[in-house]
Amino acid sequence: MAPPSIAVSSVAISCLCWMISAAAVSADGWMQRHPASQSRVPQLTVDAMRTEYIALEKALWDYLEKTANSQNNKETQLRKIFDSHRDFNGRPLMERTFEENRYKLLNHYEWSLLERDLVYISKLYEAYKEVFVKQNNSAQLDELAVLDLAREVLRNDKTISIPRILDEIERVMVQQTLYYRAMLVSKDQICNTQQSAQQFVYSLYADIALTELKAYTMMEFSWMMLRVYGKGNYTQEAELMRNDYEKRTERTLKLLKDVMLRADRIVYRCDPPKHIPKVTYDEVTRLLQGYVENEVDLNNEETCRETCDFYQSTRAEGCFKEKYCARQQRCSGRIYNCQFIDSDMWVCPSPQNSTRRYEFIEYESGRVLGQRTKCHRGTTKVDSWWRYLLWHCSYCFCLCDEQGLKSDRFFNLRDSIADVKKNRVVTGLRLVKSNRIFHLQIQEGELMPRGVINQSTLEWRPVEKYNIFDRDVKKGVDYHTLSYESRSIDLDDVNTDDNSFVVTGVRFRLVGAHLNLEAYFTEFDFKTGKLIQPEINSYWKSNDNTDVGGGARREKLRLANTDLPTRTIATSLVQSRHNQYIDFTNTGLDKDAAQSTVPFIDIQDVVSNPPVPLSGIGIYYKGRNGYGGFVGPKIITYDFMPHVQVPRTKA
Ligand SMILES: *[C@@H]1O[C@H](CO)[C@@H](O)[C@H](O)[C@H]1NC(C)=O
Ligand SMILES: *[C@@H]1O[C@H](CO)[C@@H](O)[C@H](O)[C@H]1NC(C)=O
Ligand SMILES: *[C@@H]1O[C@H](CO)[C@@H](O)[C@H](O)[C@H]1NC(C)=O
Ligand SMILES: *[C@@H]1O[C@H](CO)[C@@H](O)[C@H](O)[C@H]1NC(C)=O
Repeated sequence: MAPPSIAVSSVAISCLCWMISAAAVSADGWMQRHPASQSRVPQLTVDAMRTEYIALEKALWDYLEKTANSQNNKETQLRKIFDSHRDFNGRPLMERTFEENRYKLLNHYEWSLLERDLVYISKLYEAYKEVFVKQNNSAQLDELAVLDLAREVLRNDKTISIPRILDEIERVMVQQTLYYRAMLVSKDQICNTQQSAQQFVYSLYADIALTELKAYTMMEFSWMMLRVYGKGNYTQEAELMRNDYEKRTERTLKLLKDVMLRADRIVYRCDPPKHIPKVTYDEVTRLLQGYVENEVDLNNEETCRETCDFYQSTRAEGCFKEKYCARQQRCSGRIYNCQFIDSDMWVCPSPQNSTRRYEFIEYESGRVLGQRTKCHRGTTKVDSWWRYLLWHCSYCFCLCDEQGLKSDRFFNLRDSIADVKKNRVVTGLRLVKSNRIFHLQIQEGELMPRGVINQSTLEWRPVEKYNIFDRDVKKGVDYHTLSYESRSIDLDDVNTDDNSFVVTGVRFRLVGAHLNLEAYFTEFDFKTGKLIQPEINSYWKSNDNTDVGGGARREKLRLANTDLPTRTIATSLVQSRHNQYIDFTNTGLDKDAAQSTVPFIDIQDVVSNPPVPLSGIGIYYKGRNGYGGFVGPKIITYDFMPHVQVPRTKA
């Protein structure tokens, strides 16, 4: 698991680098001019491509210089330049066009001007590919068409000038620190971007850098063609341009690294425009539910000698004289926290198919539990009575913890692991209720070189289809059952700082009476994108702190007397921090007759766009004061910052 010996391996790597750089131009030519320590962390895709193209373009100029004096090699020169550019420009990444309005939320005047220029380059590049790259070979090149296009690319006047655009990019993005602004803006826009702030900044950079690279390849290609067709020397122009490019890149990457270091990497879901049951949220049902019962039935001697408060943990022992107890669904589980509210009341029962027992309860005093509406099944009058004028047999208001077909209170405890054999990693999460059991479902995708996910492989890994009544399924092993004594869920971020690991699985486990999140991490190679022996180099990680004992004690997030979270139009705010927990509990007496279980469960997909590997996952709580809120999963995107390498241009 641990790297063998750092000292030894670093020597080994630096030796290897010497050998490679000695062996002529290679893909990482630019990096190899720098100390081995720098080249050990592989670059981001677009940076690696820039490095590669500069090496290619330099080699071609050297070649042109060397073959300058031989007369009959124009065809060979053309072929060489043409073929190498066709191959480079044919790379899948070079297909990406600059998407207009993608960064609209920057809402910035100079950006809107710059965006126009970037779109111009992107379109010019399409035309350039049309003329050159789509040709089958250099013999088919039409000299006039080539020269026309070269002139267009190299145009340098008041309206169009690529060098001016490239300077503009640096002025706006770097000197005016628009990258920094992008980070700040995207932090508040996570609901719209579905990207972490770091991802947003990085996508912005990658899109601009790719456009810049396209501009550069077109200009280099044009000069080379002009040279071959005998229209001039152009070595100096090319060299100047290359120097400027490297210097600009260095300054840009310096800022980018700094911004990415400060940027958040969290993605979660904000409230949907409308809360829709079983679509955007689901519920634990009938965990602790308000329940009306007469004292006489709360003890097995049928007495009324105590007050309601006396019954803090008991059962419904009988049904005295078939009174109201015979007309409602009995609580077959334990009964907790009884209290006396008032003697006489009207009870409005809920529909048969509802998980509620009561719509509302109205006492003679005028106090109403729940929301008083029209009562479709008709209210029932329920009156306490006196026994021998000595004892008052009161109706108490208690909480019923009853398991049954209407009580969905199960959480899956089985592992959920991506198909690591197919090099897949976790890219998203969601909570789903299946067969009455909540599962933390994973979205998986194939990991490719340099932190890229193959989007066409994305899929939600099906959850395990078992049922709690199946014969081989065990409580406490396969699933956890919430109860009065065990109904906490830990709110944690489980993250790794080790950049050579990504999340490949998740599960819940039980720590004491708490559901606790665990993440499964697997080692991988950033440059190749391959998981490294996942069956050996993987481990589970979690936050083991508890709410008792020493150390960083877990803090409780309290929910009391809340209403249904769907009853507020105010959008939820994230209210939990790492190392907290929350209890599933009943809603408030007055607000909801304690009929529902909160928090609700946010079941929206938590994925990022574009998908990326994850360095962590979490469970958090969001809501508004006075309302029960939601628990939901979040994802922590892989940290790309260490892969932003600031090249030091040679003196
Ligand atoms: C390139 O070759 C393919 C098949 O060899 C042919 O169909 C196509 O027309 C050729 N393109 C041009 C521009 O000649
Ligand atoms: C092109 O210009 C460079 C630098 O000015 C010079 O060294 C080289 O000899 C020239 N090449 C040709 C073929 O004229
Ligand atoms: C209960 O049944 C009624 C009528 O059959 C239906 O309109 C309602 O949506 C059902 N409610 C639930 C919670 O299933
Ligand atoms: C992405 O996945 C699809 C489907 O498995 C596959 O056909 C395609 O070749 C993959 N793309 C890359 C670049 O690996």
